[in-house]
Amino acid sequence: MILDLVCVSPEQHTLAKELADSLSASLNTSQASSKKPYLDLSEDGLAFFHPAARSRKKLLIDFNSGASRWRIERASHEKLIKKALGRSDAPLNILDCTAGLLQDTLVFLSLGHRVTALEQSRIMFHLLEDAIHRSEDSSIFKNLDLINEEACSYTRELKNIDVVYFDPMYPKTKKSALSSGQLEYVEKVLELESVSNNAAKEFEVLQSIPKKKLIVKRPIKAEPFSQELNYQVFGKTTRFDVYL
Ligand SMILES: C[S@@+](CC[C@H](N)C(=O)[O-])C[C@H]1O[C@@H](n2cnc3c(N)ncnc32)[C@H](O)[C@@H]1O
Repeated sequence: MILDLVCVSPEQHTLAKELADSLSASLNTSQASSKKPYLDLSEDGLAFFHPAARSRKKLLIDFNSGASRWRIERASHEKLIKKALGRSDAPLNILDCTAGLLQDTLVFLSLGHRVTALEQSRIMFHLLEDAIHRSEDSSIFKNLDLINEEACSYTRELKNIDVVYFDPMYPKTKKSALSSGQLEYVEKVLELESVSNNAAKEFEVLQSIPKKKLIVKRPIKAEPFSQELNYQVFGKTTRFDVYL
C-alpha cells in the first residue's frame, strides 16, 4: 500500500516532498480522506492517522508537554528503571534497541546517560525526528543518536556499550489490545509497514552483543526470554529482567 503524505500548506511543500521521497509516500496537497491511513504535515508537525485506531486524535509525538515532559522532569523519581540500571558514577553508554516513542530513552537522557536509540520503522523514525526538531528543550537530545535500523542488523560501534535495553511490543492479549492510544498507533504503523518481530529470537542476538548488562522490559506475568537472568525489578504491570 502506498501511503499518502498530506500537506496543504504551500510553505511546507519542499519539506513534504523530501519526506514523501524518503518514506516512499505519495504527496497529496489537498484534504485527506479519513477512510485510509495517512501522514499529515502541518504547522503542528508530522502526524500519523489511522481510521481503525480507537483514538480519533492523530499520533503526533510531542516532547514539550504531557507525559513526555512529565517523565523528563521527574526522571529522578523513576525508581524501577534506576534500579534496573544500577548505580554508576559515570554516564552510561546505553543502546536502546526499541526506540518507540522514546519515553524510556528520555528517562535515560534525563539521568545524564548517553543513548544510541534504534528504531526499525521508517514512519516512527520520521515522527520522532520531527518531534525532536520541534522540541523546545533541545539540550536533552545532545547525548542522543537516533538511528533508523533494526537492532539485530545494527553492527556499527558495538564497543563500549554498558547497557543494552530491549522493550519489544507486548504480545497481543485482550488486555494489551486496550493499551494506551499511542502504543495502539505504533502497532498500526508496524502493521502498515508489514514489520513483524520475533522478540525471543531478537533477544538471543542482542544477548551476544558485548556489554555489561542487558535489560528487558516485559509484561509482569510474561515468561522471561531466558531463565539465565540475574535479577528482576517488578512494577505494577511491567517488569525489568536484568542479564549480566
Ligand atoms: C514497545 S515499543 C518501545 C517503547 C519505548 N521503549 C518507549 O519508551 O517509548 C517498541 C518499538 O520498538 C521498535 N522495535 C521493536 N523491535 C525492534 C528491533 N528489533 N529493532 C529496532 N526497533 C524495534 C518498534 O518498531 C516499536 O516502535
